[in-house]
Amino acid sequence: MQAASAQDPFVGRVTERAALAEGFASACAGSAVVCCVEGPAGIGKTALVRAFLAGAASGAVVSASGDEAETTLPWGVLSQLARALWPASARRCANSVG
Ligand SMILES: Nc1ncnc2c1ncn2[C@@H]1O[C@H](COP(=O)(O)OP(=O)(O)OP(=O)(O)O)[C@@H](O)[C@H]1O
Ligand SMILES: [Mg+2]
Repeated sequence: MQAASAQDPFVGRVTERAALAEGFASACAGSAVVCCVEGPAGIGKTALVRAFLAGAASGAVVSASGDEAETTLPWGVLSQLARALWPASARRCANSVG
């Protein structure tokens, strides 16, 4: 599913966004924080996180995602993070492994 667009703006979720903002502020202050967004399929989990991250400080956030179909892919999430943080070194790793 697609996240809310400019034509279809993100609405509501004030409490949830405040909880994410609180977690983000704690993380920025140096604490290790895990925010778990859970709910039924299609309830708006991805849209909530995307809307929140769109308003978060740029450059401070890298993201990765996983899908059930990718569970056999080794190091999938870590490699997404490495590519985002260190594009050149991640390419070198991929070349030397592959
Ligand atoms: N607060 C919101 N404001 C506007 N649109 C929303 C909002 N929450 C969800 N949507 C829209 O509802 C649809 C489903 O949302 P989304 O894909 O985020 O759900 P999900 O919980 O991540 O689904 P899944 O469980 O399949 O991953 C999307 O089109 C999204 O843009
Ligand atoms: Mg989703």
